Amino acid sequence: MPDPRSVPVPADIDRSEVPRHVAIVMDGNGRWATRRGLPRTEGHGAGEASLLDVTYGALSLGVEALTVYAFSTENWRRPVDEVRYLMNFNKGLLDRRTEELHAEGVRIVFSGRRDWRVPRQVIARMDRAIEMTQHNRRMTLNIAFNYGGRAEIVDAVARLVADGVGTKGVSERAIRARLYHPELPDPDLVIRTSGEHRLSNFLLWELAYAEMVFSEVLWPDFRREDLFDAIRDYQGRHRRFGGVSEGGA
Ligand code: IPE
Ligand code: IPE
Ligand code: MG
Repeated sequence: MPDPRSVPVPADIDRSEVPRHVAIVMDGNGRWATRRGLPRTEGHGAGEASLLDVTYGALSLGVEALTVYAFSTENWRRPVDEVRYLMNFNKGLLDRRTEELHAEGVRIVFSGRRDWRVPRQVIARMDRAIEMTQHNRRMTLNIAFNYGGRAEIVDAVARLVADGVGTKGVSERAIRARLYHPELPDPDLVIRTSGEHRLSNFLLWELAYAEMVFSEVLWPDFRREDLFDAIRDYQGRHRRFGGVSEGGA
C-alpha cells in the first residue's frame, strides 16, 4: 500500500478557501455490509480505513478541525450485539490509531456524554488519547461519541444553572461557552454520506450556518478524494450569513 500521507491536494482546490472546520456524519456502514452479504458490523470495521484516509486528507488540506459522528445518543437503540461491537470497535480503534495520529500532530478530543452506558475500558482509551495528544496543534480530531445535539444543549444549560447565571446573563455567548468544545470554530461544512439527507441530532447548535454536502458514497467506500469533491462543492457556494453577498445578489 502506498504511504497514505503522500497523496497531494488537487491543484483546483483553492488552498486559501479551505473550511476551517469540517464535520462528517459517517453513515452507510450497515448497508455497505448487507450489500456484500456480510453482517452489519463488518461495515463498521471497514469504516476505519475511511476515517484514517479522510483524516490524512484533512491534514493535507490544512483543515483546523475535523468532527466525526461515531455514535449517537440514539444508537443505543440498536441490537445489543451491534452496540457491543461498536463499543469494542471504538476501543480497538483508539488502541490501534492513537500513536499514529499523535505522530501526525493531531489533537484528539471527544464530544458526548460520559454516562454509565459507556464501558469503562472505552473511557480509559479516550482519556489516554486526550492526554497523549493534548499539546498537538496541527489539527483537532473531535470524535462525537455518545453524542446528541440536544443533549449537548441540555448539558450546557445545566452548567449555566450550576454556575448561577441569572436571566440577564443568558445569551448565545454564555451558552456557547458551555458547549463540549467552545474553543473550536463552528463547522463551515458538514458532509453526510450514504445518500441520507438529515442531521440525526448532530451538532444542532454549531451547524447553524454550515454548508451541507450530501454524498451518495457509503462511508466504508469514502476516501479523501470524496472529501476533496465535497470541498470543491463548498468552494463553489456563496455564504451570506443572513446578509447580502458582494454585488448585492
Ligand atoms: C453509521 O452507519 C455508523 C453508526 C451509526 C455507528 P450505519 O450503521 O448507520 O449504517 P446504515 O445507515 O444502517 O447503512
Ligand atoms: C447518525 O447515523 C449517527 C452516526 C453516524 C453515528 P444513524 O444511521 O444513526 O442515523 P439515522 O437513524 O439514519 O437517522
Ligand atoms: Mg445509518
